[in-house]
Amino acid sequence: MTQLAIIGGTGLTQLNELNIIKRHKINTPYGSPSADFIVGELNQIEIIFLARHGNPHKVPPHKINYRANLWGLKQLGVDQIIAVAAVGGISPSMVPAHIAIPEQIIDYSYGRLHTFFEDNDYPVTHIDFTYPYSQKLRSQLINAATEIGLPITPFGTYGCTQGPRLETAAEIKRMENDGCDVVGMTGMPEAALAKELKIDYAAVSVVANWAAGKTEGEITMVDIEHNLEAGMANVTLLLKKFISLHHSSVN
Ligand code: HPA
Repeated sequence: MTQLAIIGGTGLTQLNELNIIKRHKINTPYGSPSADFIVGELNQIEIIFLARHGNPHKVPPHKINYRANLWGLKQLGVDQIIAVAAVGGISPSMVPAHIAIPEQIIDYSYGRLHTFFEDNDYPVTHIDFTYPYSQKLRSQLINAATEIGLPITPFGTYGCTQGPRLETAAEIKRMENDGCDVVGMTGMPEAALAKELKIDYAAVSVVANWAAGKTEGEITMVDIEHNLEAGMANVTLLLKKFISLHHSSVN
């Protein structure tokens, strides 16, 4: 049986439709996770939910204990993660409230504890990260979006910045030249740590705003929250369809 976890980011601190069964407070050799792990049912299927920034939303992207979060999920038997995260849109099609299932990552973050393989207790280990996301999980999510007629972008490159400030216009121009379609602050090291733990991992990127320099005026938290409300409603529909297509019948 596959144990699915959903990690919710900004705009998805809790899954309102989750029928909560229990909460696990877990301590790990890497410290405390962002929040309790919530076990609940979505569409009658048991899943585990974790609020990446804590609940209430208070842990900034560079302070998230990614290792504790992933380690805790692994301890709970999780072997599949859908990671939902807000992003800025760089490519013209990445309009606010749009959803993408990226297939590549460029990591611009720094100074984060980003591996489980840093002490002498392990032989030197270099995981393969050619394809950072699970292709199978990505196609299942894309399939679910098609089934509900949700127009998503089934590819794209996610650029991960350090935050918590947003980028400069020049930084976004550089990222665009590098091939980034969306920009976020939490995709790494989360994806790499999942891969180190051999957990299938895919990202659902929800566009909260145009990235810096892509529109006139300032990017405000009010606009971000407004766009995320619309985007996250679609994420919930997508997750429910994904579960009914790829979990109910096989588990
Ligand atoms: N940049 C980085 N991360 C983000 C953004 C952005 O513009 N919007 C939401 N998360």
